[in-house]
Amino acid sequence: METAQLKVLLVGGGGREHALGWRIAQSPALAKLYVAPGNPGLNHIGEHLAIGDSDVPALTAFAADNNVDLVVVGPEAPLAAGLGDALRERGIACFGPDKDAAALETSKSFMKEVCAAAGAPTAAYGRFTSGDEAKEFLRAQTAPYVVKADGLAAGKGVMIAESLADADSAVDEMLGGKFGDAGEAIVIEEFMEGEEASFFAITDGETVLPMIAAQDHKRAHDGDKGPNTGGMGAYSPAPVFTGAVYERTMKEIVEPVVQEMRARGTPYIGVIYAGLMIKDERPRLVEINARFGDPECQILMRRLNSDLLPALYAAAAGELRGLTLDWSDDAAALVVLAANGYPGAYQKGSAIHGVEAANALPGVVVFHAGTKEDSGRLLSNGGRVLNVTATGADIRQAIERAYQGVDAIDWPDGFCRRDIGWRALERAS
Ligand code: AMP
Ligand code: GLY
Repeated sequence: METAQLKVLLVGGGGREHALGWRIAQSPALAKLYVAPGNPGLNHIGEHLAIGDSDVPALTAFAADNNVDLVVVGPEAPLAAGLGDALRERGIACFGPDKDAAALETSKSFMKEVCAAAGAPTAAYGRFTSGDEAKEFLRAQTAPYVVKADGLAAGKGVMIAESLADADSAVDEMLGGKFGDAGEAIVIEEFMEGEEASFFAITDGETVLPMIAAQDHKRAHDGDKGPNTGGMGAYSPAPVFTGAVYERTMKEIVEPVVQEMRARGTPYIGVIYAGLMIKDERPRLVEINARFGDPECQILMRRLNSDLLPALYAAAAGELRGLTLDWSDDAAALVVLAANGYPGAYQKGSAIHGVEAANALPGVVVFHAGTKEDSGRLLSNGGRVLNVTATGADIRQAIERAYQGVDAIDWPDGFCRRDIGWRALERAS
């Protein structure tokens, strides 16, 4: 495999992309890194392009005109918009699936259909466009009721209702257009009990290269309370993801799904994010995402010993066979610093100090998620603003160090959860 001197275009501008760019830039195989649009964390790492992450024509034209060898796509929106298809049509290698394969994330009912064909364990479900039929189906289920918009709804299209009345309202709201096109159809699922973890594997459409698992915290406040967010923290290893769970996840879920996509003539190229519900060491699929998790990706990048870039290139080029990845035995933890008010309304543009001091602490690396620079000052520019990561000999040390990093940062307009990793700590004690 010829990977020397690669020109790479990284698409996206959040904490996930800062972490990916940080690792790609450490590769001896890298000749040049472009980021579109990137963020201030990538300032000395890549050349920023003023192209939005979903501007498929502009991204494709830039890659073609500048002899880019590999495009690495961070978020799902460009994949759903057909960036993978457009690049491959021009003969440009892309880490990220075509639109039809990204449907594993963008259509919940498609994911379910593929799982059924592949025999992958997941919750029983029904798909509806009629409210009456949906409500009739609900009456044959037991509480809690899981009602989802079929399409992409920025992680907000899932309602778990304790009562039939609440479930009925969710049906009416979603089919009534609360999530726009994403709610033209809805999916009603059996509620799965257990503990959640996310497992990642990369694939060239045929060969699957397993990565590792992580766990995140979706709720805004301590004790896993408060509104759902994009993720307030993460850690790895995930104690619930035992060797037996790993074997089953690969054999029963990831491998069969990848082979099913290939058999359909829509091979899946990129990273498979398997959101799992695990009970008694049996994993069942909650969701598939067509991208790395954010903030889980940042944790993966902290535990990866191998060079990332050759693996991404091999996946995009159909050359993954024979490749392995080496992971650190160290644990890694991440704490999100979010703007006060997130995930509701929040202010942007307040000054942040102390990132350099945090980065100087043992094991700590701070990734930028929603920041901007103005005359040399670092300002908040989003809901999730900074990702403070740390590695340590065990999960306890990693978490302690991450909070030391948090405490070195001076940003009065931000908040964080103080209990990241509590499940792992409970098991470790
Ligand atoms: P999703 O957007 O499909 O990942 O769903 C968001 C969250 O809702 C998941 O992370 C789970 O915590 C929960 N969830 C979704 N579907 C189910 C299910 N069938 N059973 C139990 N919990 C679920
Ligand atoms: N951390 C959850 C996600 O990326 O969807």
